[in-house]
Amino acid sequence: MASLSAALQRPRYAPHLPPVLVGMNRAGSVGKTTFGHAVCAQAAMRGYNVLGIDADLQSDFSYWNGYDGDFVPAGTATVHDVMLGQAKLADAIVPGRTRIGPGDGDEAFEAIPRFSLVRGDNKMSQADGELTSDPKGVFWLQLALKNQIAASEIDLIYIDAPASLGRLSVSLLLAATDVVICMKPTRKELRGAAALAAMIEEIRAEYADDFGATARASYYLMNEAKTQKNQGAFYLEIQREANELFGDRLLPFIRPNVRIPEAYDAQEPVAIWDPQIPFVGAINETLDRLGYPDKRVA
Ligand SMILES: Nc1ncnc2c1ncn2[C@@H]1O[C@H](COP(=O)(O)OP(=O)(O)O)[C@@H](O)[C@H]1O
Ligand SMILES: [Mg+2]
Repeated sequence: MASLSAALQRPRYAPHLPPVLVGMNRAGSVGKTTFGHAVCAQAAMRGYNVLGIDADLQSDFSYWNGYDGDFVPAGTATVHDVMLGQAKLADAIVPGRTRIGPGDGDEAFEAIPRFSLVRGDNKMSQADGELTSDPKGVFWLQLALKNQIAASEIDLIYIDAPASLGRLSVSLLLAATDVVICMKPTRKELRGAAALAAMIEEIRAEYADDFGATARASYYLMNEAKTQKNQGAFYLEIQREANELFGDRLLPFIRPNVRIPEAYDAQEPVAIWDPQIPFVGAINETLDRLGYPDKRVA
């Protein structure tokens, strides 16, 4: 497979914007949110301005930062209001945070500098239908990013996507530049990755000329990768195949580690909850590969 140039792309629909990453998968629970949240938090810690967009009805990305999409206070704008054109991005943007004390109130959390997010909402469960009834609906995020984010304001955008591949996911792909296809080491997941890559190509082809669609299946992420034969030689074989298939599009493997679900539960980035685990190193290596070297080191 042809090797990619190191850097991510910029949107053709709005060249003033930074790369817009989205993690996707045909099934669910493969680590999209875990990956995306860590990429955002660690890029911010490295000195970059990042914006996470929580487009999943489960709003795990928001929960990780101490915002619950199942209990949105009255009058609070979320991604759902932005999608419906009833709020501006800026109204739905809140600071990325980490827990510093007990409870659910604002006093229990501290902002992480340079990390912002568009707050999630369980009303995104209705998104596929809502987007279908509006002919321009599928462009909601592309237009919001293009018209509401200034040049140089943000260095990296990550969209946290739902598992389903309906109209909402198409709308996210129309805003994205680079898709990270997330997998676990099984045959089913390898097949799913190929099918998803084909779908992404189709959508780009359909919308490229008239609407500046850019998204490519740029990277592949293997989560819960195994390291030893006694964990199952089969998994190692699938990982070998993935290496062969994806070459340098394959991001550093992520291994299973209980500290990851613990960090979500604690509502702290993994890099703060336990900076020593290999996961944190794998995400930093990923940021190096994506063109976001640590600005704190000379
Ligand atoms: N490498 C890992 N080791 C252990 N648990 C993980 C790992 N990656 C993800 N998880 C856990 O698996 C579940 C699904 O991960 P998540 O990132 O929410 O997936 P998705 O966003 O694809 O649905 C979560 O409970 C998460 O904490
Ligand atoms: Mg998720």
